[in-house]
Amino acid sequence: MNLRSKDLLGLKDLAAEEIEYILDTAKTMKYIITSNSKRTPHLQGKSIVTLFYENSTRTRLSFELASKYMSSSSANISSSGSSVAKGESLIDTGKTIDMMGTDVIVIRHPQSGAPHLLAGNVNASVINAGDGMNEHPTQALLDMFTMREKKGALKGLKVAILGDIYHSRVARSNIWGLTKMGAEVSLAGPATLLPPEIERTGAKVFSTIHEAMIDADVVMSLRLQLERQKKALFPTVREYSRFFGLDDNRLQLAKKDALIMHPGPVNRGVELTSSVADNDSSVINEQVTNGVAVRMALLYLLTRRGTHEAAN
Ligand code: CP
Repeated sequence: MNLRSKDLLGLKDLAAEEIEYILDTAKTMKYIITSNSKRTPHLQGKSIVTLFYENSTRTRLSFELASKYMSSSSANISSSGSSVAKGESLIDTGKTIDMMGTDVIVIRHPQSGAPHLLAGNVNASVINAGDGMNEHPTQALLDMFTMREKKGALKGLKVAILGDIYHSRVARSNIWGLTKMGAEVSLAGPATLLPPEIERTGAKVFSTIHEAMIDADVVMSLRLQLERQKKALFPTVREYSRFFGLDDNRLQLAKKDALIMHPGPVNRGVELTSSVADNDSSVINEQVTNGVAVRMALLYLLTRRGTHEAAN
């Protein structure tokens, strides 16, 4: 099987079979990163460039390590320290990277749709590492990988996603992906942080986290994205935490064996208490490991696809 597109821009456009295939491939990749010798020839002769216009620790480092573990040549560009700071456009920057023989460009950008614009102007495969408030598909894939690994299957899972839904590209990608895979998604957050159109995605929307969490198999808390707020959307962080923060008491509403997830970075004491973040049911650290496996799978599948097509 091959992925249909040369690019991975979002889960909205991916078929359920493609998601399943990526997760199956990531399972194989996880054996490699948990082995003593993290080196495979899967990407030998390929070159990967990460192009980040926003800060990142997890996503950027996991793509860099994924490409190194699979023996590719890799390089990194950020908006500061490159010709982007001199005013070069996204398309000109992308074409410059493309003309150096790059096979995959991994981009994070504050504008929704920037990876789509880039993908239409370069021969390289483009992977969306987060665009504005639109999608963060590789995060949702690693989240689904973690849920499937721990719970056996995604179909029928009850997943509660809590907090700043409005600004969250992680929430949007998870909603597209999880509903496609047959999971039931419940959302809860302050009314000002719930986008009005979100119910059309198939997710259920609640105004209290109690309603969303009842009998949940997975509870995913989201980072409060203060940096994206143009005006105050709730009274104070303390008040937000009081009504929508996850603590040990609220955790009782979910199933006894519910997984606790967070995409990171975590604001301890805001979205969840340290006691919840470090609870035995928390898989926040495993999400990080699984992020490397999923990104290895994507780099492999997208570069293999190009080779296969060229051979035909
Ligand atoms: N979850 C996530 O995207 O984290 P980073 O911003 O550290 O990449």
